[in-house]
Amino acid sequence: MKIKKSEFIISAVKPSQYPQDNRVEIAFVGRSNAGKSSLINALTNRRNLAKTSSTPGKTRLINFFLINDDFYFVDLPGYGFAKVSKSEQEKWGHMMEAYLMDRLQLKKIVLLVDSRHKPTKEDVQMYEWIKYYGYEAIIVATKSDKLKRNDFNKNKKIIKETLGIKPEDKFTFFSSLNKEGKEELIDLILEGVVKEEIL
Ligand code: GTP
Ligand code: MG
Repeated sequence: MKIKKSEFIISAVKPSQYPQDNRVEIAFVGRSNAGKSSLINALTNRRNLAKTSSTPGKTRLINFFLINDDFYFVDLPGYGFAKVSKSEQEKWGHMMEAYLMDRLQLKKIVLLVDSRHKPTKEDVQMYEWIKYYGYEAIIVATKSDKLKRNDFNKNKKIIKETLGIKPEDKFTFFSSLNKEGKEELIDLILEGVVKEEIL
């Protein structure tokens, strides 16, 4: 599958600002700095469609990107960013809840975890939340270019076991640097939610 067109539509803080056109949405969630915005850029072949940064906490709003004039990728702000005040954490929580809990257009959630580390308590909570609300989860273990050959199987096992991944969920490694397996990942993400002739 190919992503031929991608455009930034809006940064939203509240539901009244979300796109109103009822197109399917696919959301990217995960810890701050896990690589959500980089993954969206890699999948869309754009260098700077979603803003990225080596400092955690770059994405602070809910960003909607229209793909192939047909569906949205939704880039969400990350959690677990230490340098955030309590009030900002609460603001984040409300913003995320308002989007994730009540969005009929949202069809799939891609959970990103750093492939080098054991998922955190917050990652587990996020995964459980995804399942509780009945979504199929796609787990992408990011920054795989940083792994040694021997780490892949070991880290995959740790990530799957820590999250408690269910058989219906998908797991894959990915690197936004070398983009290996990009087409397959796009297929995995869009499977069952987007008609193939549109891609
Ligand atoms: P927030 O917006 O803070 O939630 O972070 P994010 O999840 O959007 O992360 P972002 O895409 O901004 O990437 C964070 C940092 O990780 C940046 O310095 C990226 O260059 C780096 N990064 C992202 N993906 C990869 C990858 O696949 N490999 C390597 N080596 N670095 C990556
Ligand atoms: Mg980001």
